[in-house]
Amino acid sequence: MNDQTSLHSQSVAEIATPNASRYLQQLCKHFAHKLPVKFDARAGEIDFPMGRCALDASDEVVLRILLSAPDADRMPELQNVVERHLVRFAFREPLTIEWRAIGAKKEETSAQGRPPVPVINPFGPIRDPKVRSVIETMNSNRRFPQRGGPRGQQGHKAEDFADYGFSIHPDQGDLIYLLCRQMGARRVVDFATSVGMSAIYFAAAIRDNGGGKVIGSELVPAKAETAYRNLDAAGLKEFVDIRVGDARQTLRDIGGPVDFALIDGWPAPTGPSLAREVIEILAPQIRVGGYVLNDNAEPDFLEFIRDPANGFISMTLPIKRGTELAVKIS
Ligand SMILES: C[S@@+](CC[C@H](N)C(=O)[O-])C[C@H]1O[C@@H](n2cnc3c(N)ncnc32)[C@H](O)[C@@H]1O
Repeated sequence: MNDQTSLHSQSVAEIATPNASRYLQQLCKHFAHKLPVKFDARAGEIDFPMGRCALDASDEVVLRILLSAPDADRMPELQNVVERHLVRFAFREPLTIEWRAIGAKKEETSAQGRPPVPVINPFGPIRDPKVRSVIETMNSNRRFPQRGGPRGQQGHKAEDFADYGFSIHPDQGDLIYLLCRQMGARRVVDFATSVGMSAIYFAAAIRDNGGGKVIGSELVPAKAETAYRNLDAAGLKEFVDIRVGDARQTLRDIGGPVDFALIDGWPAPTGPSLAREVIEILAPQIRVGGYVLNDNAEPDFLEFIRDPANGFISMTLPIKRGTELAVKIS
């Protein structure tokens, strides 16, 4: 198989069809005679000379395809060969295949100077179609702060955008879900909750771990209400308790050791950032081995988390503009 690290251009397609598994197996069998292929009824991988095709039919009614090529020039040929064969196998139903490019470069800015809606990786770890569908709807409805300043400045108030919020990137959500599953998280903190995107990733992991609680925090009651509605639609409401009010008060006592805390705050006009104030409150409540994920790279938060005296080690991940992941070691 190709070396995954050298694959630089990616595109995805999600095809709604009741025959997802059948087409996956037909495509893989067809190429198995001449190319390296592995597959079963739910997932497959074909190594073409111009790149790799990964297929997923675990939702039964959706065939997800991820194409990876060493450079963008080879992508059209790869798309073409996969598409041609699938359309031939599916001669009884008209298949609509729309390829979308994924990758950091594509997501930086649109022609209007705003980031386009981030692409959800179809091979992310959450498989529950109900949860995925709520995340997809929220993702396509998301709004962005105006150009020229971070959210919370340029006249944005925390009360604004009660329907949309400024949610975490889907890759951050996938990471939250994956790490929470890995560690068997049972008690996690979601600062802040806004309309519930990060809470959904946390709650899905808590449920899939067998139960526990997401302690959310939100200043604006209307946002907390929207978050509960979104959580309810995803079938996850019972796993979340949103504490409405100022997190600097509501998160003082989480009620036991915290496995994972998200620090995704709102810029403070003056003084220390909310991220810094909240990590100071949460740090003593996080258990050794617990994770902290930070979205906005507030300088005074980074100063705290990187200071060995505070008991964490951390690294900056190449997700979004830089996502800090820390683990408590003492
Ligand atoms: C960036 S959003 C959180 C997004 C959320 N994590 C998600 O993925 O959907 C930040 C939120 O912090 C809330 N907020 C601002 N100041 C707060 C405070 N002092 N206590 C609690 N929440 C606060 C804002 O209302 C806003 O909804």
